[in-house]
Amino acid sequence: MYFSDDMISEIVEKNDIVDVLSQYVNLKKSGSNYMCLCPFHSEKSPSFSVSPSKQIFNCFGCGVGGNVITFVQKIERLTFIETLKLLAEKAGIDVRDTRDEKELERLNLKNKLFKINLETARFFYRTLHNNRRPMEYLQRRGLSDEIIKTFGLGFSMDSWNSLYKYLLTKGFTIDDVYKAGLVLPKKQGDGYYDRFRNRVMFPIIDLKGSIIGFGGRVMDDSKPKYLNSPDTLVFNKGYNMYGLNQVKKISDLENIIICEGYMDVIALHQYGINNAVASLGTAFTEQQAKLLKRFSNEIIISYDSDTAGQSATMRGLSVLEKEGFTVKVLNVPTGKDPDEYIRKNGVETFRELLKNSMPLMEYKIESAKNGLNINNFQDRITFLKKLALILNDMESEVEVDAYIKKYSKLMQLGEESIYSELNRLKGRNKFGNNKHNIVNNKKSYKKPKKGEILAEIYLLNICIVDSNKAKNIFKLVKTHDFIVELHKEIAEFIVLSLENGKLLTAGEIINYYDDEEKKAEISEIFSIELPQAEVEDIIKSCVDIIKKSNTNNKIQELTKRMNELFQQNEIEKANAIYNEIKNLQKTIK
Ligand code: UTP
Ligand code: MN
Repeated sequence: MYFSDDMISEIVEKNDIVDVLSQYVNLKKSGSNYMCLCPFHSEKSPSFSVSPSKQIFNCFGCGVGGNVITFVQKIERLTFIETLKLLAEKAGIDVRDTRDEKELERLNLKNKLFKINLETARFFYRTLHNNRRPMEYLQRRGLSDEIIKTFGLGFSMDSWNSLYKYLLTKGFTIDDVYKAGLVLPKKQGDGYYDRFRNRVMFPIIDLKGSIIGFGGRVMDDSKPKYLNSPDTLVFNKGYNMYGLNQVKKISDLENIIICEGYMDVIALHQYGINNAVASLGTAFTEQQAKLLKRFSNEIIISYDSDTAGQSATMRGLSVLEKEGFTVKVLNVPTGKDPDEYIRKNGVETFRELLKNSMPLMEYKIESAKNGLNINNFQDRITFLKKLALILNDMESEVEVDAYIKKYSKLMQLGEESIYSELNRLKGRNKFGNNKHNIVNNKKSYKKPKKGEILAEIYLLNICIVDSNKAKNIFKLVKTHDFIVELHKEIAEFIVLSLENGKLLTAGEIINYYDDEEKKAEISEIFSIELPQAEVEDIIKSCVDIIKKSNTNNKIQELTKRMNELFQQNEIEKANAIYNEIKNLQKTIK
């Protein structure tokens, strides 16, 4: 079995060290690296370190180190070749006889395409420096000579065949030049013509420093604004990011900024923000996310603030979330892209934007809030529904709570009404990804007794027809005191409408529900007859029943907690809770 160097680097490239090692050891993030107990010697505190950006591991204790192949070879006790086979299989790389003609041919061609691209980039670079118009264009856009050099920018002449003729003099065949994507067959007659003409050229460079393709921009308003190399044997847009070769050089990389365009990356770089990449004009792919994951766990998305930019942001986000990134969104104000913004407002202002970039969830919530008027009751309900949908996807309960606190204040919604909506969704998603269950965590009440249910229904019926009485009732009980989930939701709607100055009718409340069963339940609630008694007396006894039931629930919770503390030998704490229980019991006697 024979593995070419190309094959071996492909194997290393496609087997991310963190992914592979995680299957053997328990990696914990520590700064930009991961640490764990060394699997190759016995130790009590971790000295085994893995660097995702460098794709290597090293043990400070016993001195082993190497790349993903070394690790697997050592831990699986395989030969080098066996390890390569194993890893190739893992990554889905076909290695059945790599020595066969076809494979060698492919490798040769690959190398040739790299050479053609390199020669082309040099040609474009020289051409740029020999032509005033493109040079002036770049200068007008604020590019320094130094940045032009760093990114190897160039210019393709306004000619049908200058590149093509040049490459033939360098000994390349037209067939290979075509396979490099640099010429197109003539529409009429035989022969080829240059794909890139009269454009400022941006070479696209992979992580190994090879030029894999080009982007070219017109210098006026003609279309298309940018033309890119087609996918070739060495260029696959979905697998690369523009500027990643620059990001690779950063040793203390904190995060990566993803922008939309070539010019954004270059501008940020020119201003010293050199951790920016662009996604090559296509939708963000899973492969690109995996590529970035080798370098950092945090992504800051900085797409254009136009609507296309915004929806592109949303699409990219789900891919990044799936790969487990911490994602933040940087909003560039007022219709600008990062390039225009930083040139107009300076790097300090941009850094300020960077610092203020929003966590993904907040960005989603803010987008949901866009265009809604908090003074409009209907809009607030719309927001509440959207908010619950967003929070429903959230992993961390602590975060959910924090967002609910924040947005209930901001949008003048009761916290409980957001929880209720969330619970409703969780109920509906019983078989979906119900990661944490707020229903169970928030309040796990026993099945309410008949008297309690009736008390709540009476109160709701009194509320719905008399806003003064309603106000009084909600001074005595809080909406979260309501035991039946649906009653609590209705109470929330009533409180919201009271704040809004216009009491909802039962029919309006029913409108907020899609579910036929719920609609029926609600109309049943409001069809009940009140007992023959003074309304004030009914209120008083209903409030008492509800309060008592809540206190009982509280006592149950505390008792459970007390028992746990006893078991943990936390006698003092348990005693404190015991006293609390005693006091609660007095209030209901
Ligand atoms: P934009 O239209 O936002 O351009 O496209 P830009 O980056 O701001 O460019 P300037 O500032 O006008 O020079 C964003 C990216 O989408 C891809 C390119 O990668 C571009 O950088 N694109 C855009 C194309 O591939 N083709 C196009 O015709 C337009
Ligand atoms: Mn731009």
